Amino acid sequence: MLDNADRQHELVLKAISALLGKAGLAYHYETRLKNGVPVQMAVRDADIVWDVVSTPTEWRYRIIADETKAAKLTTPDFQKQIKAAVSNAEATLVQDGSAFWVCIPKARAEIRDVEWRQAWELGPGVPAGCVLLGINSTGGQLALDMTRAENWACMVIGMPGSGKTTLMQTMALSVLSSQHSVMLCDPEHAGGRPLESLWPLSGHPLVWGHGLYSGHDDVAWALGQIIASAWHGLDADLYLVLDEVPQLTRDPRIRDALNTIAMQGRKRRLHLIMGAQHIIADDVPGATSRNAPVRIVGRVSDRNTAYLATGRADTGAERLAGRGDMLAVTGADLVRFKGAYIPEAELRQIMERYRPRLATRPRVAPVAPELVAMPVGLGGGGHGAGGSDPIPTPDEWLADIRDYYREHGQLPIAYWLRQRYHVGAVRAERILSQARDSIDHGL
Ligand SMILES: Nc1ncnc2c1ncn2[C@@H]1O[C@H](COP(=O)(O)OP(=O)(O)OP(=O)(O)O)[C@@H](O)[C@H]1O
Ligand SMILES: [Mg+2]
Repeated sequence: MLDNADRQHELVLKAISALLGKAGLAYHYETRLKNGVPVQMAVRDADIVWDVVSTPTEWRYRIIADETKAAKLTTPDFQKQIKAAVSNAEATLVQDGSAFWVCIPKARAEIRDVEWRQAWELGPGVPAGCVLLGINSTGGQLALDMTRAENWACMVIGMPGSGKTTLMQTMALSVLSSQHSVMLCDPEHAGGRPLESLWPLSGHPLVWGHGLYSGHDDVAWALGQIIASAWHGLDADLYLVLDEVPQLTRDPRIRDALNTIAMQGRKRRLHLIMGAQHIIADDVPGATSRNAPVRIVGRVSDRNTAYLATGRADTGAERLAGRGDMLAVTGADLVRFKGAYIPEAELRQIMERYRPRLATRPRVAPVAPELVAMPVGLGGGGHGAGGSDPIPTPDEWLADIRDYYREHGQLPIAYWLRQRYHVGAVRAERILSQARDSIDHGL
């Protein structure tokens, strides 16, 4: 709470108070008995609270109103009158339970930055699978629950400087901090602004492939691997964080892989977090953008782009302040929030602790190519639940495992196989049992 010392706030409060009176909402007359004599008395219906609430993105002025006036306060006509009274076209009146608030977005210079740790520590903890975004307009922690089917993938859209990469850094660090793996792709990492890319997080031990994927060949290869293992059952969720998606999807291999993941990944424990400046026509393939149900939109250039980005009319995304002032649009909700950022000193600490690096392709034989090209939509239940035939195990893998057995006197654990051959848990178990059979049969 702020003391209402500021002249500007006083003017707004007076304007709202005057409007309540003018609109006939402030009080009504009732005839009451006083000493047995009926007299007309003014009874208060609505009044302003002489205090201002500062949220990260708005100033809020509270109206206390009688329930019977609620319907009148929330009419479109009264909304218009509020805008006129406070001389601000972006002022809105919102009802929050029994409270009514006149909300006026803060000017760019008034919006405070929010460090990721500050936002992280606001709640009792960000539950696993929820991804920290920042703080909402009442100062509460805002996280996106990507474990919900309807939130499994999101696009982060906005013009340069709107704060896309900054937010994606926060989202990626949030996933890593809750012990899940992320795959990081950023074609721009070599563009001279390493701190404004996903590069600083790339050395974290939970990063898939042990580094950042940047070149098109590497990204295409890695997505192929991920599809192959996910289609055979991942035993934990994997978050794919891809910045500058339009640059990546110029490559048809990446375009196809992303479309496949966008259409089927939800059932395969994959999650997509994709950054792009626009979402128009050729920038992001239709199948990919249509299948990313959550839109996180920073400042965009105009109303039309705002409409395309959010999928809704009149969100005002073209008037956001930039620098992480954003809208999160999910199926039912539209929430304005301030994205949290990782301060430079902390990014440098992370980089010192886990040296950033580019992902390299392992030298082991890749998963059989026919797997990657396999049609999507194997049908319900995923692999191993009956249905499709198991993928044959290459003879050289079985030979490799027998070598291990000879050397160590025991079979490797499934985790060893998964790391070495990039297979899922289910397939690793099957290969182990085949290897055990072949050893039992003295091969
Ligand atoms: N949430 C935030 N809090 C504080 N500062 C921010 C925030 N988001 C962005 N900024 C500032 O704005 C700058 C640009 O942000 P960022 O690189 O994330 O934008 P972008 O949308 O990814 O732009 P581009 O399209 O050029 O990649 C950052 O260096 C940072 O200084
Ligand atoms: Mg960026």
